[in-house]
Amino acid sequence: MKTIAFFDAKPYDRIWFDEYSEEYGVSIRYFENRLNPDTAFMARDCDGVCAFVNDIVDEAVINSLYGNKVGVVALRSAGYNNVDFKAAYGKVHIVRVPAYSPYAVAEHAAALLLALNRKIHRAYNRTRDGNFSLNGLMGFDLHGKTAGVIGTGKIGRVFIDICRGFGMKVIAYDPRPAKDSGIEYVELPELYRQSDIISLHCPLTKDTRHIINSEALSLMRDGVFLINTSRGALIDSKALLDAIKVKKVGGAGLDVYEEEAELFFEDYSNTVIQDDVLARFVSLPNVIVTSHQGFFTEEAMQNIARTTLYNLRAFFQGDALDNEICYRCQKFGACDKSHKTRCF
Ligand code: NAI
Repeated sequence: MKTIAFFDAKPYDRIWFDEYSEEYGVSIRYFENRLNPDTAFMARDCDGVCAFVNDIVDEAVINSLYGNKVGVVALRSAGYNNVDFKAAYGKVHIVRVPAYSPYAVAEHAAALLLALNRKIHRAYNRTRDGNFSLNGLMGFDLHGKTAGVIGTGKIGRVFIDICRGFGMKVIAYDPRPAKDSGIEYVELPELYRQSDIISLHCPLTKDTRHIINSEALSLMRDGVFLINTSRGALIDSKALLDAIKVKKVGGAGLDVYEEEAELFFEDYSNTVIQDDVLARFVSLPNVIVTSHQGFFTEEAMQNIARTTLYNLRAFFQGDALDNEICYRCQKFGACDKSHKTRCF
């Protein structure tokens, strides 16, 4: 049986990984620590590593793992912006879970939109305090409004279906439009100008970092609602805060935050939060922050465990790695995987 070091382990991770690990021939050593250059040595007696979104898989970590003959990092996530793929190439294989439940994330985006619009978070607190006033709780009909969706991959398309279910008009931007999808694609400035709500469903790359900056915000409709369930750094947080203060943005639902790595997934309720921008966001009546919980459904967690263990078993058995990714995968025809079954 092969052993893996499982970083940033939480009690809820163990539910499905413990249930399935034996079936896939993998023994798991759970560590609460995040993976980073200081903790990478903890995997020294292991054959593989399992990492999550805020673990750091940079050059120093790769070299440490490679030096200890750890051949694979299995990301238990779809996103992979935390990996230095150039450093990993030829040394450590990187596998991920490309899809586990697009519904989980799209439904969470819709939950943020509905709660923000109808002020459910405020109503909940009010009625618990015996306050049954409606002052300040007025929302608007989603029916007939325009949703602008940035990124029409798996999650974006489920979100589009949900919006259509509400009777919304949908427009979208994606550099790789989905063929025969019936989606109306427009360029970004047009999307900003037309949309009543904008939801981000694209990955974080060097091109999409701060895609929502002060310039983009200035093109948007006054009072626009912004939903981000993708990656925090898609939004320039300070620019968003300024836009909220001048009422350019009427509401923001943020499941991810630029600087989340320091805070999200942990309990800091007894601590003074040092991040002033985040502290301001959580204090505003028209902002809802959730701590990267879009993926967090039973179905998604079960699929994440099964696919991660499948990826690890395939690596250990020398099989093809369907879910491997490398920096050459992005460039058409550059990666060897199609004929050699592994990226290297
Ligand atoms: P996907 O790979 O199916 O779709 C991403 C889409 O974004 C693709 O169609 C791609 O062409 C498009 N895209 C790439 N560059 C773009 C750009 N510059 N502008 C607009 N679109 C662009 O990915 P999926 O599964 O839909 O996930 C989307 C993102 O959601 C992930 O990258 C991840 O960051 C995030 N995510 C968040 C979770 C959460 O718990 N909040 C859980 C899972 C994913």
